[in-house]
Amino acid sequence: DRLYADDIEAILRLKREKNAVILAHNYQTPEIFHCVSDIRGDSLALAREACDLDADIIVMAGVHFMAETAKLLNPAKKVLIPDAHAGCSLAEGITADNVRALRAAWPGVPVVTYVNSTAAVKAETDICCTSGNAKKVVESLGVPRVIMIPDEFLARNIEAETGIEMITWPAHCEVHERFTPAEIRQYRRIHPGVVVIAHPECAPDVVAEADFSGSTAQMIDWVAQRKPEKVLLVTECSMSDNLSLLYPDTRFVRPCNLCPHMKRITLAGIRRSLETLQTEVTIPVEFQAPARRAVERMLAV
Ligand code: 13P
Ligand code: SF4
Repeated sequence: DRLYADDIEAILRLKREKNAVILAHNYQTPEIFHCVSDIRGDSLALAREACDLDADIIVMAGVHFMAETAKLLNPAKKVLIPDAHAGCSLAEGITADNVRALRAAWPGVPVVTYVNSTAAVKAETDICCTSGNAKKVVESLGVPRVIMIPDEFLARNIEAETGIEMITWPAHCEVHERFTPAEIRQYRRIHPGVVVIAHPECAPDVVAEADFSGSTAQMIDWVAQRKPEKVLLVTECSMSDNLSLLYPDTRFVRPCNLCPHMKRITLAGIRRSLETLQTEVTIPVEFQAPARRAVERMLAV
């Protein structure tokens, strides 16, 4: 497509001229994921990679909390997000006041915060986690009970895996909460032999219907290693689009649900962001040190 080609060419040139790198989450559309990004991954990989980048500018092709995490870990760099309104229902589902109230209600119980949260919420937190390391992080605390926020379903799924009691908060991913067990069962009937892998932001009864559950990177690794004939990725739509280009022998059965926030990031937006150096992500000074501590503590686990 000619329009895409113009934008791709311009982005590749601007990256060289401005010494910029593009980090892309696995939910980015194929033309971003495959054609212009330098580093691709799940939230954990993007946070890890953000720690030691040589570039002067980091463009986050993802949602706002991911750009904030990159900035926390790389405060000297200019971190850009092509659309400042690329939010997340989980990050918007809890406030720092809510966390303080939970702590007051459960004194002494550690707070584990999913990275899908604002820097203000992370700053109230003992340690962060992602869907890729939540089990490990929770177990590393060595306690029988934790407050795990904001994703109720992730917390319940980790509770089922670890036996550690979770105090939860009623926030959900607006993409993954839409999947139902009945829908998965129907797809199994229509596509005998299909392998089902679900993201742990899905409700526990959906995860119970799946053959495997893991972060987006863990889902990709699973497909790469097992090369199933037919697979249903119970997650955001671009995952199947991106993987079907890499694994043409695997049939990717949809359903999927779109994340409207991830889809605010476009090639044209990335190009504009590199041309104008907008929108720069900044974090209020009072949140920087405590939020960074919670993320760095997670990375050390
Ligand atoms: P992961 O890529 O870390 O599994 O997270 C999924 C997600 O919804 C990010 O917004
Ligand atoms: Fe947030 Fe869900 Fe979109 Fe991920 S997929 S950014 S968790 S709303």
